[in-house]
Amino acid sequence: MKAAEIREKFLRFFESKKHTIVRSSSLIPANDPTLLFTNSGMVQFKEVFLGTDARPYVRATSSQRCVRAGGKHNDLENVGYTARHHTFFEMLGNFSFGDYFKREAIQSAWQLLTQVYQLPPEKLWVTVYQEDDEAYQIWAQEIGVPAARIVRIGDNKGARYASDNFWQMADTGPCGPCSEIFYDHGPEVDGGPPGSPDEDGDRYIEIWNLVFMQYNRDQQGVMTPLPKPCVDTGMGLERIAAVLQNVHSNYAIDLFQVLIRAAARETGVPDIKNNSLKVIADHIRACAFLITDGVIASNEGRGYVLRRIIRRAIRHGYKLGCVQPFFHKLVQDLVAEMGSAYPELSAAQERVTDVLRQEEERFFETISHGMQLLETALNELQANAASVQAQPDSIALAGEIAFKLHDTYGFPLDLTADVCRERGVQVDAAAFDAAMQRQREQARAAGKFNLSSALGYSGTKTLFKGYEALNIAEARITALYLDGVSSPRLQAGQSGIVVLDATPFYAESGGQAGDQGTLMQSSAGQAEGVHFVVTDTAKIQAEVIGHHGLLEQGELKLGDVVQAVVNSQRRLHIMRNHSATHLLHKALRDVLGEHVQQRGSLVDADKTRFDFSHHAPLSQAEIQSIETIVNAEILRNAPTQAQTMAYDDALKSGAMALFGEKYSDQVRVLEIGFSRELCGGTHVARTGDIGLFKIVFEGGVAAGIRRIEAITGVQALHFVQALDERISSAADLLKAQPAELNQRIGQLQEYSKTLEKELMQLKSRLVGQQLDVLAALAVKVGEVNVLSAQLDGADTQILRESVDKLKNKLINAVIVLGSVNSGKVNLIAGVTPQVNSKIKAGALVNFVAQQVGGKGGGRADMAQAGGTHPAALPAALATVKEWVEHQL
Ligand code: ALA
Repeated sequence: MKAAEIREKFLRFFESKKHTIVRSSSLIPANDPTLLFTNSGMVQFKEVFLGTDARPYVRATSSQRCVRAGGKHNDLENVGYTARHHTFFEMLGNFSFGDYFKREAIQSAWQLLTQVYQLPPEKLWVTVYQEDDEAYQIWAQEIGVPAARIVRIGDNKGARYASDNFWQMADTGPCGPCSEIFYDHGPEVDGGPPGSPDEDGDRYIEIWNLVFMQYNRDQQGVMTPLPKPCVDTGMGLERIAAVLQNVHSNYAIDLFQVLIRAAARETGVPDIKNNSLKVIADHIRACAFLITDGVIASNEGRGYVLRRIIRRAIRHGYKLGCVQPFFHKLVQDLVAEMGSAYPELSAAQERVTDVLRQEEERFFETISHGMQLLETALNELQANAASVQAQPDSIALAGEIAFKLHDTYGFPLDLTADVCRERGVQVDAAAFDAAMQRQREQARAAGKFNLSSALGYSGTKTLFKGYEALNIAEARITALYLDGVSSPRLQAGQSGIVVLDATPFYAESGGQAGDQGTLMQSSAGQAEGVHFVVTDTAKIQAEVIGHHGLLEQGELKLGDVVQAVVNSQRRLHIMRNHSATHLLHKALRDVLGEHVQQRGSLVDADKTRFDFSHHAPLSQAEIQSIETIVNAEILRNAPTQAQTMAYDDALKSGAMALFGEKYSDQVRVLEIGFSRELCGGTHVARTGDIGLFKIVFEGGVAAGIRRIEAITGVQALHFVQALDERISSAADLLKAQPAELNQRIGQLQEYSKTLEKELMQLKSRLVGQQLDVLAALAVKVGEVNVLSAQLDGADTQILRESVDKLKNKLINAVIVLGSVNSGKVNLIAGVTPQVNSKIKAGALVNFVAQQVGGKGGGRADMAQAGGTHPAALPAALATVKEWVEHQL
């Protein structure tokens, strides 16, 4: 029996029992904030159960489209891993609104299953809620199900009414005990009967749930009886189809086979048993129906669930080798299969296809980078785990990586978890949440910008006049904010945000700092005596500019007209730096290669800071050649040209767009010297305005990313002047002309080398003279001369030479010499051949070193050590004699 026929028979059966056939409602529950998606057939009847809505019928039946992904009932993670979980499924149901109750519900269900669908009664098991004797009696006595196949299930989920046999729609709402009917797929399938430890296997599958609705649960968990007891039943179409088509997996039913074959066709995978095809076939249903019902892919709420399902499908396609959008092509197959049962799907076919294609294009841009990152991390993790022989289930992917995948590559956490699960690795979800939290806090700390976006402004957009003017005589205040809250006025002494209908102030964006300046009394005398100091300018919405600052004098009221004056000196500096950035970007590509891509930029009044992709530090020659090229462009003094055009035309004209940046359809193309880029920033009129361009820093910021900082105009002049001054004063110190500096420094280096050499010779001569004195300090231990002494100022080389010479002098000897040099202890021990069978220099030096906070070792005849406690050296040396006595 095909799925379509099963659906039809169900509805007709209940129609014959006086039920009204009701169309499936949307997947988005109407006016119900407690529920993410319609998750069962009863959702559209919720109010009827509660008695707050009435229908012209007391019995109904439906085939309801449902999604269980996110919210109380969530099966997303299980899709692809079991034979019966879906994100989207159809629920066949019959409902009684205060009409029949347990008896008729059970009788009808049994009749449909055994007579219409002709299932063998001995294959059916039932469960009832532990306390529901009434349902138990009906099953046992009236239907005649043997007691061995009736299972009572209590509160098996840890709280009162938390039970597999107590159904509730959401945390609040209608609920009641239920009775479930299971089908036994036979002993060849793994799994145990309901209530047994291995009930989660695929052998005994729940096919129908009969809920005896009796209560309304509120937020505090209080259960109020419903006005009248009701019935709500639900049978998964896919599950009953699997039973009736004699297959064990829902994915083997006719409806899914069509979709799996379509997925195989689009992904070019010949093996239709491949698990990923099942996932794709499941997900196309959920995605297509969600879009049909008006869900828009986004980063929150329902839209984010949709996006997660789409991306999970794409990831499985990618795993099968797809590198291009493929998923949207399955919409036609789905419509062919399900369009007649759900005409709304057919009607939305084109839109659904388009939306999916766009989402796919977007994700395919980053998936390969993300997958690479993830694969590398997983390989490392598994290699490390293997080397320490970790238990497989103890291996977890770092939350930071999961977060980076989320943040940079658009991998929802469950997608990352899905990949990890295939490799037997868990994800550290707590660390992921922590990283997410940190980012939120940073955004909050970044303060005003985050605050700005929450201001809820709904007035007119701000007209930006700052390309051509730095001062406008009249601008009207369209909003004022005090402490992040809209306010009709600002008083002197208060800080806040002012929004104007037009402004010359540039709001921070594209790396260019926001303008500073003043809002003051208009030239026509309005806003009398006002002086508002703008300390920063930032967008509060895409085209609404907020002036942040302090009202020093006067009062500002909504609707007032003010004069807006940008601090022009500062803005000029910013413009020079911004224009120079474009020239720098182009010069970098010319000198280093086309692989150079902007990875971040910050342009303010002091400098431009430009991060770009490149694998190695820049050589001095490269830096100079970049400076030369940029300065040559400046000297050409070409006029800057800005032009607004369609995005595609801009790209065709060769303008550089930034990867990953969002552009609107109309873009501003900026031509400065030899560079052509999309940019909304403010720029100098001619390249010559930039003045001198000078790179002042080059360094690495991350793997494969370099940073250059450069300055222009007056800053460059100041930089050169400061450099000059430093060189002059250095030359003065050396009593040389600046031009002679190198030669002079060379001479000094030579001279100091000569001095060092002489010093060494002197020291060693001095030590030589001391040796006789030292030798005389030796004491006898039996036949052995034992000498320990401190020789301050001697480095290890001198110590070593001295030990050698003393060995020759003392013949049969054990010697330890120590010295202190710049706060560190050096020790050398020497033992002559006659004694070194008994006394090892290594052991001796170690013995002494330990007393001065070090350790050491070496050969039997000569060994060396260091230490960190000079003060302990004399006492340590004094212990040598006794140690030797002990050894001999
Ligand atoms: N509303 C019940 C369920 O979803 C029938 O299982």
